[in-house]
Amino acid sequence: MSLTSVNRRPSVLDVVIDAAQRRVGRKRRPAARQFWDSTIGKKIVMAVTGAALLGFVFAHMVGNLKTFFGANDLNAYAHWLRTIGEPVLHYEWFLWIMRAGLVVAVVLHITATVQLVRRDHRARPVRYAHRRPVKATFAVHTMRWGGATLAVFIVWHILDLTVGQVNQDFVAGDPYHNLVADFRVWWVNVIYLVALAMLGLHIDHGFASAARTLGITSVTRERALKVVGRATAIVTTAGFAVVPIAVMTGLVR
Ligand code: HEM
Repeated sequence: MSLTSVNRRPSVLDVVIDAAQRRVGRKRRPAARQFWDSTIGKKIVMAVTGAALLGFVFAHMVGNLKTFFGANDLNAYAHWLRTIGEPVLHYEWFLWIMRAGLVVAVVLHITATVQLVRRDHRARPVRYAHRRPVKATFAVHTMRWGGATLAVFIVWHILDLTVGQVNQDFVAGDPYHNLVADFRVWWVNVIYLVALAMLGLHIDHGFASAARTLGITSVTRERALKVVGRATAIVTTAGFAVVPIAVMTGLVR
């Protein structure tokens, strides 16, 4: 929609931009499109979707701890997840709404990342003569490769514990049995523990860069947020990891 058609007095800048765009025969892009096309817009999308995904992951980790209360508790919890919102919502509707939200968040998060990386390469096709500090390079690599590993892990994980395709002994509606069957196998534990380490690094670095994107510029606040980010990463990773470790050591059977 052209700005001149909006029911308000256009500013001088609007008129100049409109005239320039008409001259090159292009329509003014809608605000959402301009936001998405800007570098800061993509970074904000990454930060907000990252925060939403972290919220899901943290809640998932807390829910998994029900494993320590036995099969009945964990399975009842998994059943309750399917009945949230009843009777207003039907069985599993909440779960499907959440799944749709997660898919949208993951797609936006990955698309914004890939486009920013491409933009970064286009802007600087030849590397700087003097390299970035080792710490920054490590962070960039773990974010990109760790993120890609996590994306593959999530697909495998759904095939494992939701669909049951790659599970060692899947029984529908019995997540306790399914995860115990899983974590009795050493290489399944390796897959999970590697993915969890990647998740921890991703949260740690992601938290700090999201804070910067969202405008936390004070040094004290940035330091405090780094501590919060690291604590969140450690608690989330450890909270997930205790489940396979408990099965491996025979604490959960
Ligand atoms: C030791 C670690 C983990 C365990 C034991 C575990 C356990 C489970 C179980 C039992 C389910 C099936 C739940 C059900 O059918 O009610 C599930 C689903 C799922 N998990 Fe995990 N999980 C772990 C780590 C993760 C991580 C790190 C992520 C994300 C980064 C994740 C994302 C998901 C997703 C997206 C689903 C599918 C939810 C759905 O659509 O039903 N999980 N997990």
